[in-house]
This record gives sequence, structure tokens and C-alpha cells, in this order.
Amino acid sequence: MNRLVVVSNRVPAPSAGTQAGGLAVALDGLMEKRGGLWFGWSGAVVASGAGRAAMVERAGGVDYATIDLTQEEHDRYYNAFSNGVLWPLLHTMPELMQYDRRDARTYREVNARMAAALHPLLRPTDIIWVHDYHLMPLPQALRARGVRNPIGFFLHIPFCSPDVLAAAPEMTELVRDLLAADLIGFQTDNDVANFTAAAQMLAGAERGPSNSLFFAGRRVRLGVFPVEIEARSFARTAAAMTEAPAVRRLRRSLDGQRLILGVERLDPTKGLLQRLAGLRRLLEKRQDWCGHTTMLQIAAMSRTDVGSYRALRAALDREAGALNADLGEPDWQPLRMVARGADRATVAGYMRLARVGLVTPLRDGMNLVAKEFVAAQDPADPGVLVLSRFAGAARQLEAALLVNPHDPDAMADALDSALRMGLEERQARWRALWAAIEHRSPLVWGRSFVAALLRSTALRPQKVPAPVVLPPPAIERRRAPVRLSLERVGPEMEPAVLAEMVKPGRVLN
Ligand code: G6P
Repeated sequence: MNRLVVVSNRVPAPSAGTQAGGLAVALDGLMEKRGGLWFGWSGAVVASGAGRAAMVERAGGVDYATIDLTQEEHDRYYNAFSNGVLWPLLHTMPELMQYDRRDARTYREVNARMAAALHPLLRPTDIIWVHDYHLMPLPQALRARGVRNPIGFFLHIPFCSPDVLAAAPEMTELVRDLLAADLIGFQTDNDVANFTAAAQMLAGAERGPSNSLFFAGRRVRLGVFPVEIEARSFARTAAAMTEAPAVRRLRRSLDGQRLILGVERLDPTKGLLQRLAGLRRLLEKRQDWCGHTTMLQIAAMSRTDVGSYRALRAALDREAGALNADLGEPDWQPLRMVARGADRATVAGYMRLARVGLVTPLRDGMNLVAKEFVAAQDPADPGVLVLSRFAGAARQLEAALLVNPHDPDAMADALDSALRMGLEERQARWRALWAAIEHRSPLVWGRSFVAALLRSTALRPQKVPAPVVLPPPAIERRRAPVRLSLERVGPEMEPAVLAEMVKPGRVLN
């Protein structure tokens, strides 16, 4: 069996002190099932002189290989460039960017260091799967070290249009770096379209057949792979939590009021201020809801070293205080805000209690909270999902009430409809939403990506088809064209993956 090597910034290694987030939740099942190597940052920040070699520990059939970051690397690679530049830019919020070219340099250096630490751990038959915006230079950094294994890259967040992308000078180079992969996966077809345009306009790639690009003498496949949740097991957890003490306490405190629930990291992309504006408009327009509904917003503090996150926290505190002071009564408050995370099971219980799930990011790659809210509902008496049309999940969850989060009146109207919606319509909408997520899982998602990666490698033409557009000479000199042949990869492909590859309609392009 080909070993799967997953590379991500955060790694859920047993010794890692930090939470690995939604990305790890999506990948955990796959790694648990097939084993492999998971490589990335240890979560530790050391004063200086981080070791060159990775530390490897084994748990449950998975080898976790991690490196530490120095304080400066953490500040510049993770905080400043990944989360202060790439995150807002790729979410089409360039005004939040805090650009400094020294951060970009460190970002590239950390990726080169990761490639150097990973390289000696690789075997010739490994399949490499790189994740997310922290690691955009990694496919090329590995190729530059002579790595010829199949390399896939998956972007968990959106990809913006090329004119927005150009706001950061490094983006042309980063798009070229990504094109050293064999398969680049995105959450939606909109992201594929934006990347294709950027690769053509900025990097000089040429469009190939069926969602592929030609670049530097190679064919690179693009695909849509929407991340999924384990809907049935989340539903079971939510049902089991109805009588958990935390859920009972919340239910008791509501005293019959309808609960509007928001759950996310405290992040500028999540549209939290706009959401409060929508709640304010609802209570101003439909005063009969005062005293009869309340909103619980869980906004877990996140990336607090990044200025825009701290500024958002301060703005939210101000607006939440003003909202409660302006509209609250001695015995009723419209809003409860908690800036700490809660464990997943408790959140599942809260979701089942809620009449409305309010998931209104300004832009989001997918948004698994929306899917979790659907899974958590009681089919006999389900709540209503109010979802931003700018979340990737909106493409699958069309039976939700879709809103434009920039329009407070639209949010207020959607909230009003959701709060008033009769049982029959709630059930009908919920059934349609459930049907969209019930039979999917992170495991199938991961397997279909791996299958498509192997297929894209196997299908790579041996002869370079014309026309081939080469990048400018200075860049071309540093990039040896890479060729993998069917002979080299083919015989070692695992039968299960090969079987999956030939199933009709399975691999998304
Ligand atoms: C998003 C990103 C992940 C990231 C997670 C948590 O889901 O796509 O790559 O791990 O947020 O963010 P953090 O900065 O804490 O890793």
C-alpha cells in the first residue's frame, strides 16, 4: 500500500499542546484508517535555534513528525504572513492585510525548512498531500529537492479573484509554487475558476482539457472536493447531549425563549459585527421578539497576536454592550456573548436546542458549523439554518435560508422567518439539508482526493503536449521539469484506491 504523507501546519500529534482545528477533524479518520505519516509544526515555539530534523512519535498507526518554530518564525510565518496577509487576501478582504516583505521571506524560509526536514523521511512510493495556505510554497520546495512522488495540495479556504490576489507581491510566485503539485483541490468550483484565472494571468499557465493546466512542461489537475462531516455520528452526539448538565442549564436559562445560536472562532471573516447588526435590526423592526428570543454567540478567541483579531474583539465587546444596553430590559438581554470555545459535544447539544443556527460569514471556504447544525437537529422538531450565501457550504445546503450578511434588513427578515417558521416547513427544509450531508463523510472526501491524485499522476502524458507555455527564464532555471511515469507509480498503487478510481462519478474534476 502506498503510504500517505499528510503535511499541514497544525498536527494533532499526541504531544502537541494545541488544538488542530477543523482541518485535523477532516483528516483524522482517514489517517486513523490507513495509517501513514503526518508532518508539520509541533505547536511549540522555542526561543531560538529550532532543530533541523523532525521529531517523530507514533500513535495509533500514524507517525507524527513535527518541527518547532522559533519565536521570529512563528511571528512572521504564522501570524504575520499566513494569518495577516494570506488569510484576509484569499478571503477577499485585502483591506485587512498587514503586508511586510520580511514576513514573506520568513514564510518562504519556513516552508523550505519544512521541505528539508520532510525530505529524509520520504519513501519513493509515498503519496504526499499538502494542506492549506500556510504551505503554498511546499510543492515546489519539495520538487527543488528532487522529490518526484505524487504531490497533492488542498486549499481549505477560498481562493480570491486574480485582481484581489495581486495585492500581495508574492502571489505570482506562490501560484507557480502550487503548480509544482500534480493535483490542486478546492472547496468549490468558484475557487477553481479563480485559481485558473490567476494561474493564466499571473503565472502564464495554459488551460488544458477537463480542469487542468499546463505549466513548465507539466499537466496539473484541478478539482473540487467539498469537505464533509461525519453527519450520523454528530447527530448521535447531539441527541445524547440533550440531558447533559451544560445543555440543561442553557435550556433552563432560556425559560421558553427561542434560541438563536452562532458558533465560530472570533475571526474577521465570520461577519460577527454584521450579525449583531442583523440582530439589532430584527429587534427594532419586530419588537414582539423582545423578551421572546435571545442569541447566544460563541466566538472563541483565536490568533490573538494578529492586530485585526484584537481589534475585532474590542469592536465586538463595544457593540455587544451597546446592543444589550440599548435594547435589553431589567429581566431580559438580547445577546449572550462568550469569547471562549466549548467542547464539540456540548456545542452539538446547544445546536439541538437552538431554533435558529446563524452562520453568516462574509466569506468562507466551506463552513463545517453549518453542516454540524443540520446534523444536530431533532428530525421531529428541527431548527432552521440561516446561512450566508458566501460560505462554500451554501452550494450544498440550498434548503437553508440563504442571506447576504452585508444587508442587515435581509438578515433581520431571515431571522424573523426562521423564528416564525411552522413545523411542516422546518421539517421539509431539514430533510432536504440532511439528504445533502447524510451519505458523505471526511473519509470518503479524503479517499476521493487520494484517488484523484493517483489518477492525475497516472494519466500524466509522457510527451509534453503543445502548446506549452514556459515561465520567464529566471524562474525556469530553478525548476527542473518533473515527470512521473505510469510505470513508476502504477505498479505500487493500492488495489482499494485503484478500485475507487474507476468507480463512475466518484472523482470530482
Ligand atoms: C482554518 C484553517 C486551518 C486552521 C484553522 C484554525 O480552518 O483552514 O488551516 O488550522 O482555521 O486556525 P489556527 O490558526 O488556529 O490553526
